[in-house]
Amino acid sequence: FHVDWDIVTAEKAGFDHFMLKEIYEQPKAYRDTMGSRIDATGKKVVLNEIGMTPEQIKAIRNVHIVACGTAYHAGLVGKSVIESLARIPVETDVASEYRYRSPIITPQTLVIVVSQSGETADTLAALREAKRNGARVLAITNVVGSSVAREADDVIVTWAGPEIAVASTKAYTSQLIAFYLFGLYLAQTLGTKDEAYIADVVSALQELPAKVEHILAQSETIKGVAEQVSTHNNLFFIGRGLDYHVVMEGSLKLKEISYIHSEAYAAGELKHGTLALIEEGIPVIALATQGDLFEKTVSNIKEVKARGAHVFGIHEEGEAELAKVVDQVFAIPATLPLLTPALSVVPLQLLSYYASLARGNDVDKPRNLAKSVTVE
Ligand code: G6P
Repeated sequence: FHVDWDIVTAEKAGFDHFMLKEIYEQPKAYRDTMGSRIDATGKKVVLNEIGMTPEQIKAIRNVHIVACGTAYHAGLVGKSVIESLARIPVETDVASEYRYRSPIITPQTLVIVVSQSGETADTLAALREAKRNGARVLAITNVVGSSVAREADDVIVTWAGPEIAVASTKAYTSQLIAFYLFGLYLAQTLGTKDEAYIADVVSALQELPAKVEHILAQSETIKGVAEQVSTHNNLFFIGRGLDYHVVMEGSLKLKEISYIHSEAYAAGELKHGTLALIEEGIPVIALATQGDLFEKTVSNIKEVKARGAHVFGIHEEGEAELAKVVDQVFAIPATLPLLTPALSVVPLQLLSYYASLARGNDVDKPRNLAKSVTVE
């Protein structure tokens, strides 16, 4: 008697790769991370795990977010989230830079470390540096009982479940959810936003999982784009505001597993150098989901189009202009501008997955990379 499966195949639950499985697990990861942190009325956030008193929260003068890799990209979005909801100044740093730049940390600084594994050496060292300087440390991590979780003062666990693929997907989006929850919690405590506004954001948050499912149902469209992209050796990602931070993550994802060189640019910065690299046929992936920046991004798209770029644009459903200026469009469901990263990154994850697949790479175990970097 012979059963033709092994434990790894079983764990992939019918998916060809862990990465694809983890991309598809995101709606569940969002729901689990929000879980009981939204109160029964559905109008506010409850974070019982935060031990800071309202007085301690009111005493926070600035926030430092410190992380590596994909978690750093979540921290860039986290900066916008906290600044916009709580009006506290935030700086986001790569951990390997932060620990050596003699950052100005005071007891009124809240340091947030973000780490899927909770074991990244530079992130852990940054946490220790922050504590040595008297700051309170909040960890956002996916691993209960990890070093980062044990050493931080407060911990928000992302309930993404185990992430096996080296390229992080559901851990990143769960970190975004954690930032939304924490930003709302700060706003509630500080009174920077009124109850109706908070209730609106909470309700929009709860709609995200279904909207991710809607995007996943269109993965074939992204696969087609990825197959085109996979034949190129260079490409650019552009966006403004939160879109810029999301394309940074999209570009990293593509590099990690497809080995295609790509750069993410703040769209308005293109003409300060990178435009020189745009030539006939080069793919440009443009994210244009932020209404207030939309016209500006469109004019940057026209600049690359005029130089022969092939532009793949991502916008919100119901927006009619982008299709007129780009070669191909993909629509994500509409949500509040602050929440779009939790949707717009999903097509970029699928793009890198399918580009890697088209190139015949080892999607889950890219060359030279480790899931967790525990040495400096
Ligand atoms: C490695 C992984 C990345 C991850 C980074 C930070 O480079 O390959 O996917 O983003 O470490 O890991 P952490 O566990 O601290 O989030």
